Amino acid sequence: MGRSIGLSVLISSDTRHWEKAMNKNYIAGEWLDGVSINRNINPSNLDDVVGEYARADASQAGLAVDAAYDAQHGWAGLTAESRSDALDRIGSEILARKEELGFLLSREEGKTLAEGIGEVTRAGRVFKFFAGEALRLSGERLASIRPGVEADVRREPEGVVGIITPWNFPIAIPAWKIAPALAYGNSVVFKPADLVPGSAWALAEIIVRAGQLPPGVFNLVMGPGSQVGDVLAKHPKVRALTFTGSTQTGRSVGMECMSRGAKIQLEMGGKNPLVILKDANLEQAVEVAVQGAFYSTGQRCTASSRFIVEDSIHDKFVKAVVERLSALTVDDALKAGTDIGPVVSASQLDQDCDYIDIAKREGGKVAFGGERVKRATQGHYLTPALIVDTENDMRINREEVFGPIASVVRARDYEDALRLANDTEFGLSSGICTTSLKYASDFKARSTAGMVMVNVPTAGVDYNAPFGGRKASSYGAREQGPFAREFYTVIKTTYTQA
Ligand code: UN1
Repeated sequence: MGRSIGLSVLISSDTRHWEKAMNKNYIAGEWLDGVSINRNINPSNLDDVVGEYARADASQAGLAVDAAYDAQHGWAGLTAESRSDALDRIGSEILARKEELGFLLSREEGKTLAEGIGEVTRAGRVFKFFAGEALRLSGERLASIRPGVEADVRREPEGVVGIITPWNFPIAIPAWKIAPALAYGNSVVFKPADLVPGSAWALAEIIVRAGQLPPGVFNLVMGPGSQVGDVLAKHPKVRALTFTGSTQTGRSVGMECMSRGAKIQLEMGGKNPLVILKDANLEQAVEVAVQGAFYSTGQRCTASSRFIVEDSIHDKFVKAVVERLSALTVDDALKAGTDIGPVVSASQLDQDCDYIDIAKREGGKVAFGGERVKRATQGHYLTPALIVDTENDMRINREEVFGPIASVVRARDYEDALRLANDTEFGLSSGICTTSLKYASDFKARSTAGMVMVNVPTAGVDYNAPFGGRKASSYGAREQGPFAREFYTVIKTTYTQA
């Protein structure tokens, strides 16, 4: 029947050899071929094809939206407990298979195996969390101003939710959008990034099989943004669209949705500052800086990209970061001992190198790294780059790079550092390293970012807390934690005369 699955990617634990078979889209309860084929290439080893994945066109995306529309009422009509159970089963399977799924993730995206397994664990936990949240959806009873009238406020699902996800978190971001959408009774059309269809496909297969979802409730539509993404932005039956990706694409998707009155949630770029004050614990500050800027190859919208360092600690900090960076191993994401995997693609690597050149032309100096390097296998390897002598108005400090690159800006004192930190069009996350309660409290109050960290990296957040930014970084309601309900539900006010 409709639930049968196409032959999936199989792993044999001894050889780690993957059999290749076409991985299809899941539309209206059927696994369907696309109109073309997407070859998923390992960025650590360009000779390694992770798998072949179907690419849908606009008409297939339209079929998925129609199916989601038809199925949504039935799904919302089930008990909260049955939706909770479905999410719980999905979360359990993800956690039970975290090593295998983490291997697939690291193989297709290039973050290290430890990071890949960590991300899969987070995805499993997200499903468990929203399994609980499905049971906690509540409303309010109001005192009506009219005698004998009862007033209440309740939350209902939006309807069909379109989900567009980026390549840098191939399973966690899909999880933290799909889980709340389903928990609150919405149906889903999910379009993953073209670069990382493997984890998305594996997740989809778990969702429909372990979740035992009725046909149409969840649809996987892999394909280009110009076809599939376009349908999700424009189709009148998609009531809400959640997007994580570049600012430019996010804004155009957002404009389409707004022009037809659909709800929109955008998570976009960052240019996240990390302030290092002279009273910081230097060893801790170096760890916070290096983790936040360079781990996951710096490919996180929350990555620290501007180190804003108080003059009197500047030289010591730079020296210590350079020492720490020289001890890191850049190599195949799947190799034991690798700290930093490859950049995700050739075009991203070119962009990273272009920005290093731009910074140099603007007067910045490379204190460490920024070199394309060769390893045993051909991959997109770049050593982590630290650029010093930069000013906050240089392009390297204004535009999002999205690679293992951070620059250093000098600050006279705390006030100067705070001003520099806030002087950006973005506002996703920010951080400060200090042992002063006074400065830590002041920074938390006056930073213009959506997430503020004290002595912890700007990247790497908890799945049960709200996630999102300000200014050009984000638009719409927060993601994750109980706050996710703002986006995935709509409020209804009712009045009753008994
Ligand atoms: C994290 O830092 O843990 O695309 C998450 C991104 C963000 C997620 C970051 N939306 O990098």
